[in-house]
Amino acid sequence: MDQDVAKKVRAALGTIEVPGGASLAEFPGLSDIIVTKSAIAFAISVAPGMEKAFAPARTAAEEAAKAVADGRKVMVSLTGDKAPAQAAPQTPGKRPGPPPKTPVPGIRHIIAVGSGKGGVGKSTCAVNIALGLAQQGLKVGILDADLYGPSLPKLLGLEGKPAVRDDGIFKPFEVFGLKAMSIGPMLTGSQAVVWRGPMATSALRQLLRETAWGELDVLVVDMPPGTGDIQISLVQQVELTGAVIVSTPQDLALIDAQKAIDMFRRTNVPVLGIVENMSFFIAPDTGNRYDIFGHGGARAAAGELGIPFLGEIPLVMAIREGADAGRPAVATSPDGPEAQAFLTVARQLTETVSPRS
Ligand SMILES: Nc1ncnc2c1ncn2[C@@H]1O[C@H](COP(=O)(O)OP(=O)(O)OP(=O)(O)O)[C@@H](O)[C@H]1O
Ligand SMILES: [Mg+2]
Repeated sequence: MDQDVAKKVRAALGTIEVPGGASLAEFPGLSDIIVTKSAIAFAISVAPGMEKAFAPARTAAEEAAKAVADGRKVMVSLTGDKAPAQAAPQTPGKRPGPPPKTPVPGIRHIIAVGSGKGGVGKSTCAVNIALGLAQQGLKVGILDADLYGPSLPKLLGLEGKPAVRDDGIFKPFEVFGLKAMSIGPMLTGSQAVVWRGPMATSALRQLLRETAWGELDVLVVDMPPGTGDIQISLVQQVELTGAVIVSTPQDLALIDAQKAIDMFRRTNVPVLGIVENMSFFIAPDTGNRYDIFGHGGARAAAGELGIPFLGEIPLVMAIREGADAGRPAVATSPDGPEAQAFLTVARQLTETVSPRS
């Protein structure tokens, strides 16, 4: 069924002419046409500088796809970007700059939660920090920028697809007092892996700018691991208030954390601090604490790098179980020790993002 729609889109693109005379369907810069239950997405990559000339073709492509979309949301990106591997500027200032950053109306502050390494607990921390900020009385949203492995649906128990308004704008999920948006509910199976550089950039832009966030004091962005094209794309699209780096105490994770810190610093994003996750272990039976991972490594690294240390989160089964069940600690047991650890972190960030700042 989705295949049929993709065919229909392709046929429709065959009637659109691009500069140079070919049809858009035959144009080599056209990506695969991705069709899911609720979305149609494809990218048109053109030589740098040709974006304007192709703009009418993009508009026509969007219209053509909408005509056969059967209610699906249509995302067509048009980029004059280089391949994603070269997208990160090697020597800042040499490359023609990306389009200027523009604020997202209604959003005062944007904080990215990143890490150098995967699986250190970014998403878990992002969700609980967002909830902690909300508990301080702030209006908070959370955006899942991990297009390759979205976690918010599971962590927050998001169900169903996001509603789309008549004007094509997403209505965010509203859960535990947060506004939340993720591409996860719109994908099926392994579709996430097909995002390519320009499409990822475009999808991120749409999630960020075509969601009805309303007024937010702060939008927390859960980043994918590492320092790849999504990170670069986010920092190029919008002015970030800052980044929070999550690391585990092990040396190796900290070396990776340092890479993430370097990336944010290079792109002039203030690093607001480091959180040490899985810092120590609390035995569920006795409540005894064990520093089996060399707890304290992140605090020491933060000191050396001149970055604030925001707090340590214990490794506890309740955090994992809560995360798996869509019941984040701060929302469901705010008085528990796990939640308190996250709240300590959130309180330190509140200063930075409170409305009066
Ligand atoms: N403090 C903690 N105690 C126990 N389990 C934790 C803790 N923090 C995270 N986890 C668990 O570790 C796993 C990885 O966490 P999470 O998905 O938040 O990491 P991530 O850094 O976002 O991963 P990815 O790089 O894949 O995005 C999850 O199963 C989560 O429940
Ligand atoms: Mg994650």
